[in-house]
Amino acid sequence: MTIASVDRTIRLISTGKAEGSTCTPDLAVDPWYFDDKAPGYGPGSSMGDVIPTGSPRQGELPARYRTASNGELGDWIRAAKATLGERVVVLGHFYQREEVLQHADFVGDSFQLAVATQSRPDAEAIVFCGVHFMAETADLLSTPEQAVILPNLAAGCSMADMADIDSVTECWEQLEELYGTEPDASGRVPVIPVTYMNSSAALKGFCGEHGGIVCTSSNAETVLEWAFERGQRVLFFPDQHLGRNTAKAMGVPLEQMPMWNPRKPLGGNTEAELEDSRVILWHGFCSVHRRFTVDQIDAARAEHPGVRVIVHPECPMAVVDAADEYGSTDYIAKAIAAAPAGSTFAIGTEINLVQRLAAQYPQHTIFCLDPVVCPCSTMYRIHSGYLAWVLEALVGGDGVPAEVLNRITVADDVADHARVALERMLAAKPPAAGPVAPVASVSTGA
Ligand code: 13P
Ligand code: SF4
Repeated sequence: MTIASVDRTIRLISTGKAEGSTCTPDLAVDPWYFDDKAPGYGPGSSMGDVIPTGSPRQGELPARYRTASNGELGDWIRAAKATLGERVVVLGHFYQREEVLQHADFVGDSFQLAVATQSRPDAEAIVFCGVHFMAETADLLSTPEQAVILPNLAAGCSMADMADIDSVTECWEQLEELYGTEPDASGRVPVIPVTYMNSSAALKGFCGEHGGIVCTSSNAETVLEWAFERGQRVLFFPDQHLGRNTAKAMGVPLEQMPMWNPRKPLGGNTEAELEDSRVILWHGFCSVHRRFTVDQIDAARAEHPGVRVIVHPECPMAVVDAADEYGSTDYIAKAIAAAPAGSTFAIGTEINLVQRLAAQYPQHTIFCLDPVVCPCSTMYRIHSGYLAWVLEALVGGDGVPAEVLNRITVADDVADHARVALERMLAAKPPAAGPVAPVASVSTGA
């Protein structure tokens, strides 16, 4: 299977011919369809948060970039990068489409990219090919002089949008009223807030301000250990699945993991349930990873005896329990790299990564658990047209002054606290892996 088949399936979805597809209809349109329709996205905010005044809004992508072929856009990106040299660094998440990722100086999971942000302090601009919360994190961890650019401001994360600062603050006030704020005899406070990296900077700031911390899918267990050393329980947002899967693996019983529904008093729980809790789970989820099912795992095992099933911890608990292993995007990539030739893998994560790995390791059989290809629709909004647009703007020329487009800036009142929460994470025994180099390019069929 090549990357070309992702585009082919998207064409089938757009013409209503992808049978059984439950993919988002957003994939059926070109990413520039959202240029004037996603006003909710802006620096410092998920869709539910207040957007700071002066935040840039996605402008209309000029026609030159909308109509160019992938080949032309690739040439323009290479030329702009060559002109800019060390002045720019391009970061790319594993879920980005291949024609974008091939231009990245660093490719990795969200933890590795957060670390990579600090690797080139002399670069004037960091172009982040990923989603909004990743670019915010890059702004928090880079130097004040560096401009972080998100090529398309409509590239958000639907999971990050499921927790906003007002709802989390309201939840926190209810918990404080119930538990008080006094530490117990061993010095542990009643509750520590932990936010998944996939959240707005405002929520990272909330955690920093209230003794909490950030985690990613590659260090969630380390971070929960950190939190349990300091607190009797954890409030974990926005991803219920990462929270549940991680805490369960650490031996926390399911009965001590109530779910918080912000629309209900006490999140829909009794006082006794919250008193007895160890991890309070926000009700968020990833729309890509919740598509994976135990039936798909059973079908993969029936068709490929001996198959190794690896899924991302954003998958529901039943899927993680039925899989052979689970781990972050980097864990998945490393497990495949280390396997003996001739191995068969069924992978439960975003399709662009699965297909890149399949092309990169032809000695293995690698396929996605979900037979209906479904990319992360917001990651997919970083089209190479937007990358060429922001890079050429940085170059300027022909009488046009150089310009920073789509700069992501976290407001100062949020940034200081958010940095505290991120730095706690970076100090909490980070995983050994550093940023990795770009992987071999795969045909896009363009
Ligand atoms: P990773 O931290 O594994 O890169 O995951 C980020 C993400 O958004 C997964 O959906
Ligand atoms: Fe967000 Fe899911 Fe996309 Fe990851 S895959 S960026 S969690 S919507």
